[in-house]
Parts: sequence; C-alpha cells; structure tokens
Amino acid sequence: MAIFFEITAKDIAGRLGRLKAGERTMRTPALLPVINPHLQLITPQEMQALGVEGLITNAYIFYRSREFGEKVVSEGVHRTLGFDGLIMTDSGSFQLSVYGEVEVTNRDTLTFQQAIGSDIIVPLDIPTPPDADRQRATDELAITMERMREAKEILGPDGNLAGPVQGGLFTDLRTRAGKEVSDLGIAFCPIGAVVPLMESYRYKDLVKVVSAAKSGLSPAACVHLFGAGHPSMFALAVAMGCDIFDSAAYALYAKDGRYITAGGSMRLSELSDLPCTCEVCRRHSAKELQEAPDKERLLALHNLQVSLGEISRIRQAITDGTLWELVDERCRAHPELLRGYRELLTRAPELERSDRVSKRRFFYRGSESCARTEVIRYHGTIGRIAGGERVLIDMTGGDERDFDLVLLYKPPFGPYPPELRETFPVGQAEIPDWDCDMMVSGCRGIRCYLETHPESRVVVRCPPEWESLVREQVPGAEVRVHGV
Ligand code: GUN
Ligand code: ZN
Repeated sequence: MAIFFEITAKDIAGRLGRLKAGERTMRTPALLPVINPHLQLITPQEMQALGVEGLITNAYIFYRSREFGEKVVSEGVHRTLGFDGLIMTDSGSFQLSVYGEVEVTNRDTLTFQQAIGSDIIVPLDIPTPPDADRQRATDELAITMERMREAKEILGPDGNLAGPVQGGLFTDLRTRAGKEVSDLGIAFCPIGAVVPLMESYRYKDLVKVVSAAKSGLSPAACVHLFGAGHPSMFALAVAMGCDIFDSAAYALYAKDGRYITAGGSMRLSELSDLPCTCEVCRRHSAKELQEAPDKERLLALHNLQVSLGEISRIRQAITDGTLWELVDERCRAHPELLRGYRELLTRAPELERSDRVSKRRFFYRGSESCARTEVIRYHGTIGRIAGGERVLIDMTGGDERDFDLVLLYKPPFGPYPPELRETFPVGQAEIPDWDCDMMVSGCRGIRCYLETHPESRVVVRCPPEWESLVREQVPGAEVRVHGV
C-alpha cells in the first residue's frame, strides 16, 4: 500500500492527474464528497452512480459510533459504506478545531484508520485558526510535524499517510511546513485550516497561504485543499495547484435551503426558475422544489451535481489550456474572489515557470489578462527576436521601405515577427478593440525589445488615437503617426 500521483497535463499551476492509493485510483482534480455514516442524504452508491470516484468520511465518527463502530472494524470501511472507490478518512482534527478537544490520541486514530482499511489516512494534525499569533502557530505546527513523524513509524514507510500542511496565516511557516512534509516523502498533502478563511470569503489570504504551502511542497505532491467545497472557488484553487477538494457543502447548503451554482449560491425560496440542467432541476419547477417533501435531499443532489460538473469543466479547461479564462469568469462572481484572483496574478512570474508552452487560445477579458503568465512569458522571449539597424514596429500596416526589419504588433503582447503570426500566443489571442491596459502592456513588450536590442533604431508606427500613450510608454523609440 502506498500513494502515487501522476500528472498527465498542466495549465498554469493546475494539473490533470491520476491518484493511486493502494489498489484504488482516481482522476484529479477531484471532489471527495463528505459522508457522515449517520446522516446519508445521498448514499455512497448514488454518488458512485453520479461518477464520484472517491469520498471522505470521518474516522472519529466511526470510532465513537455504537451503530457502526464494530462493523467497520470487522468488515472494513468500504463494505460498511457500500462503496468500492477510494475512501479517505479524516482523523477528528476538525472536531478538535471546532469543539476544542477530542477523546482520541494520534496513535489511536492512526491504528483505527489502518484497521478499517482506509485508502488515505490522516494523522491528528492541529488546524491552527487564522487569528492565532505566531507563537501559537509555531508551537502547533511543531506538534503536527511530530505527529506525522510518529505516524510514519506506526504506519511504516508505505503507509497511506496524508501530510497536512499547517502554519496558520504565517506564510513562512506554511512554506516550511510544506517542505518538511515533502522531505518526509509524503505524496498526499492536504493544506489545512483554511475553512475559516473560505467561510468569511478571505480568498486573498487563501491565495497567500496556499501559494506559500505550494512553494514548500514538492511539485509532485498531490495537494488537497481541506474542507473546500464551494464550486465557485475550485478553478482559482486548481490554478494554484490544488488537486483535491472535499466538502460537506452540498449537504450543509441543502440543509440551509441554499441552491449552489458555480457562480455563487442562492436561497431556494428566492428562485423563480432553476438555472441548471441536472435531473432534479429539469424534473421540478422552482415552486415544486420549494414545496417538495424531500426538498433537502433533492437540493443536496442538485448541489453535488453542480459541484461535480464544475470539476469536469475544470478538467476540460486544463486539457484545452483555457484555465485562466475559467478563473477569470468565476472570480467575477464576488469581489472577494476577484481580490483572490488579483493576488494570484501578482504571482504570475512564479506561475509562468510551471505553465505550459502552448494553449488552445488566449481570450482577452480585460485588464487582468495583461498580467497573465502568457504575457509575462512572451515579454521574456522578446530578446530572442531578430534585431536590425533600422527596425519598424508597425501597429498600422503601411509603407515598409527604408527598414531592415519590420515587426508587427499585437497587444497585450507587443512586437512579433510576421513568421510568428500563427503561433501561440500571438496567433491564438483573440482581443477586442484596443484599450489602454492592453496597450500599456503591449508597449512594455516594445520596451523589452528596445532593452534587448540596443543596437537597433526603432520606429513605432501607430494610429493617431494611440500616439500620446505610445510616446509616453516608449520614450526610447521614434513614434510616427499613420492612418490620419
Ligand atoms: N478538515 C478541514 N480542515 C481540516 C484540517 O486542517 N485538518 C484536518 N485533519 N481536517 C480538516
Ligand atoms: Zn440542478
């Protein structure tokens, strides 16, 4: 028994992968729905029929359960739940963080999880809350790390151990924790204690914490965002390099009468139409669903299917190389998501290193698109474009005599040789009418050219409406106006 993770495609820092735990495998990105054995709104069998390949349940609940405690030890967790896909068990740490204490030791929960045949075993880590000070975060992280070392001894080198990354809001602690977990050789790494951040829409902090953890973790680690269950943030998290989500959100929201969509959630009582294609929404009108006796279960079924649908959409986006477009779309659903997205864009220079070479397309969606990895990478390659004594960067098309070299221009990238007209990103970029943001970015590309080609005398020929911006942005070039 051991955990293996294989990456088959990438986009930004997101990946398509295959997680193998013991004999069971699962495609990623994936959502592990939370199952409470005592409270199954949707059964594991129904989930399997909806395409769920893995789920997560709480070992602590089984451990304390009169109803299931003995059965699960004798028959194993897969037979007890009637699910032969991948089952991850959580240790009870979450109860610890919510209720303050649990009646179980690290050793107890580990041997219990092993005894019931869990595919992924979680130690009794300490989820440090966001308001904890540095001392507390440091001390709790030390305990979490000690418990992980103990877990390695108890489970052996091939035990299916998850290595939670803690550290509170302190990014250096998160990075160190990530590195230490990877140094222990653990291939499956949940990023912990982020639920309070997501519950209060602190996506900017979430991006900081996840980026810090990721920078310490091995790029080969399968990364689980503990307790992330609202589909509106899946794309953002995948773009940062998260592979697994788990959530009770589908059920918790249903209990609260809330209808999940990829763009946010709504109160079922306020809906006059159901904007979804799942069978619950096709078979019921909004009014029928509001009045259905099994409303909570139907709503949970809808919520789960919307969440699974978003995972599929993300997988397709990674295949196509259109994850930035999806992130951009999702993160406009709430201003706090937009803050998180903008925080992620500030990290584009690091993300550029893991991003893929070529994509299906680049759709310009406003100023944020100028900060994308493809633009940064393109600017970094401009030094490799040929030079010449007299170079024309032609924004308009026109007379090309008197020049040794003519380059074309496409914002937000900048100058490009005509031979690259069909290649990524210039050839696949769809842009609307030029705007200031993309022109500033394109002019940055021209400045990259000037800096890397000091021997060239560069003339920029531009349309009259852009003359002043180009003069201001590219002081080192001669600017000629064309097309009056
Ligand atoms: N569920 C949500 N957050 C956490 C966490 O930090 N640790 C564990 N073990 N479970 C969680
Ligand atoms: Zn639906």
